[in-house]
Amino acid sequence: MAESILLRETIEPGIVRLTFNRPDKLNALSTAMIEALDAAIDAIAADASVRTVILTGAGERAFVAGADIAEYQGNRTRAFAAYQFESRRVFDKLEALRKPTIAAIRGYALGGGFELALCCDIIVCAESARLGLPEGLLGLSPGGGGTQRLTRAVGRHAASDIMLAARRITGQRAYELGIAAAVVPDAELMTTAIERARAVKKVAPLAAAEMKRLIRQGPDSALPVAQAFEQEVLLRLYGTRDGQEGIDAFLAKRDPDFRGE
Ligand code: COA
Repeated sequence: MAESILLRETIEPGIVRLTFNRPDKLNALSTAMIEALDAAIDAIAADASVRTVILTGAGERAFVAGADIAEYQGNRTRAFAAYQFESRRVFDKLEALRKPTIAAIRGYALGGGFELALCCDIIVCAESARLGLPEGLLGLSPGGGGTQRLTRAVGRHAASDIMLAARRITGQRAYELGIAAAVVPDAELMTTAIERARAVKKVAPLAAAEMKRLIRQGPDSALPVAQAFEQEVLLRLYGTRDGQEGIDAFLAKRDPDFRGE
């Protein structure tokens, strides 16, 4: 059942947690899990009360250990291609979600698990985190954006080391490479992710959505084009109700009441 493969909980108003829940298979991403994630993203996108999403894995051992390799067996090209197209579409949808997303990683985040984390805006790692794109060891290559998003995130040579030598990097190394925003003892992972989510909730929702888009799309544009886009966004935000509310609240020394308008 979709509900049990991917758990959805409201941690507190505005903060939803999605938990990949197949711990006996290290939360490997089956077709059913991709479908459940697709539906969950749609529901979250449509729910204005949700401000931010934490993604994590059930159990102590893994965030997500990649695509479900059992589904790959038997050279079933059509099914394999369908899985690849679907997972790419859902990963892209997660990245484009107009709400900040936080990946909370303990244990393995391999293959599609790492690719999924790279689609999130903020990554928090436990010390036990092990991230990698080991598809080459299966005679394959990443297909959920990993070769591109990791390279854009850490540069060609660090990405090559991770993919071409199939290295699993630690949470500490992910932090040093600038992928992880924090690395903390395993017992503190969720409280750290929730603290980040609370901080994210203080940022005006329209501003967060627009900054997300600028951060994501900017590096693929020429600098003057990206800067023009940035300025257009700022001028638009200035004209919103929340833009004026933020300024008024600051000057009145009160907390702003942002409404996403
Ligand atoms: N797909 C399907 N099943 C997976 C899986 C995956 N990506 N990753 C782990 N599992 C399953 C194992 O088959 C095993 O199932 P079983 O208990 O029914 O035999 C269970 O999860 C536990 O994994 P196991 O391999 O026994 O644990 P381990 O501690 O020896 O090794 C890993 C852990 C993560 C190193 C190892 O499972 C692994 O290499 N997984 C595949 C990672 C990968 O290549 N991902 C990219 C996929 S494209």
